[in-house]
Amino acid sequence: MKNLAVFSSGFGSNLQAIINAVKKGKVKVNIALVLSDKVDAYSLVRAKKAGIKFLYVDPALFLDRISYDKFIMRCLRKEKIDYIVLAGFMRIISDYFIKQYKNKIINIHPSLLPSFKGKQAILDALDYGVKCTGVTVHFVTSTLDGGPVIFQAALNIKDDESLESLSIRIHRLEHKLYLKAIDKLVKGKLVLRGRKVVVK
Ligand code: GAR
Repeated sequence: MKNLAVFSSGFGSNLQAIINAVKKGKVKVNIALVLSDKVDAYSLVRAKKAGIKFLYVDPALFLDRISYDKFIMRCLRKEKIDYIVLAGFMRIISDYFIKQYKNKIINIHPSLLPSFKGKQAILDALDYGVKCTGVTVHFVTSTLDGGPVIFQAALNIKDDESLESLSIRIHRLEHKLYLKAIDKLVKGKLVLRGRKVVVK
């Protein structure tokens, strides 16, 4: 079975969806490591509760991004990690890192990319007044939120939609879409043709 690392900086609802799906045998992968750059990330608690190895790596202890990433890389090698899933990891991944895990790192983003990149995509979409938004799962490249798209799912924004209700609906959509993408990823069924991802 392939070994998966999940990187999460925060609440970890996507991580929980992955843990639940793996437990139920819906996705056949071993979650070998949960990693966070934030000491108070609830995702670390979720990993602990599920009996998954977890690691907090404090960026402040490293001189620069590359030494931070090299340290993480050593941890990943130790756990024989095959694939990396970013689930609300709010730190830019360096080119060094991306090259080591070429086409093996995926991310989920709460908008229909290339619209509303960045850290507050749900709020930005709502403020802009778009009538529909959604979720994107993509390969991670050196361009922020700009890698090849694997899956997208859309939803309509209601006239009286609040940030809270839109966030809840986006997260629900994320949990489903990410599992589908992870399943295809670990089965080696995502094939890149230029910028296009073909699902086998
Ligand atoms: C998710 O909505 C994810 O799409 C977003 O962070 C949230 C994490 O939620 N990621 C980004 O905005 C990346 N640019 P979670 O911690 O509950 O899984």
